[in-house]
Amino acid sequence: MMKAKLVLLAACLALPLAAQPLADMHSDMSGCESCHADGVPSSDLAHENAACIQCHGGLADLEGETHQAHQGNLECADCHQVHEEAAASESCENCHQ
Ligand code: HEC
Ligand code: HEC
Ligand code: HEC
Ligand code: HEC
Repeated sequence: MMKAKLVLLAACLALPLAAQPLADMHSDMSGCESCHADGVPSSDLAHENAACIQCHGGLADLEGETHQAHQGNLECADCHQVHEEAAASESCENCHQ
């Protein structure tokens, strides 16, 4: 019981440092099922990207020029590589020189 609380606390403290992969942070909140149907990744990630939009809104609804600039071109998981530690801001050079 105590141990579980300490793990949760550590997870919260890690957030501002962005060192924790997004998927871990979300899983701590509401499990793998929050993004994966029955907790199992889909092959086309359609379910996963729809899940992001259901909770956060789509590219048109989100703040920031980066989101607006990619309306109709990208899905959330193209930049937010949720199981990696890298921030979305580090994804740009994967596609832009
Ligand atoms: C915030 C949404 C989210 C959560 C929560 C999440 N995942 Fe994922 N997961 C994704 C996305 C998006 C991908 C595809 C991109 C990638 O591979 O990183 C993925 C990919 C995967 C893959 C395939 C990786 C590969 O290289 O083929 C596995 C396995 C997986 N997730 C398991 C899990 C498990 C187990 C949990 C719970 C502990 C979990 N995921 C929680 C969004 C999520
Ligand atoms: C079940 C609802 C839910 C789903 C599904 C979900 N999120 Fe989240 N997400 C949250 C909540 C709640 C937070 C923490 C509060 C906040 O910052 O909005 C959060 C936080 C975030 C943050 C950090 C925000 C910050 O201020 O640091 C990012 C980035 C993010 N989510 C992206 C995604 C992406 C990308 C996906 C899909 C792969 C996704 N989320 C799926 C609910 C969800
Ligand atoms: C072109 C790349 C890109 C795409 C596509 C993208 N994001 Fe982001 N997003 C970013 C960047 C860059 C940030 C700034 C913080 C960071 O680097 O993680 C960010 C921040 C966020 C945040 C936290 C700050 C805020 O604006 O509330 C959330 C939540 C988020 N994105 C959700 C999403 C969701 C949901 C989608 C899909 C509808 C999405 N993003 C698609 C690049 C992207
Ligand atoms: C998965 C590939 C991919 C990623 C990652 C990506 N972009 Fe893009 N970006 C595109 C595509 C595709 C377009 C639309 C076609 C075009 O205009 O080149 C675009 C368009 C843009 C545009 C508007 C058109 C232009 O060239 O002026 C800007 C600005 C931009 N991206 C900035 C960014 C930034 C900043 C990041 C990182 C946060 C990022 N992109 C990440 C693929 C990507």
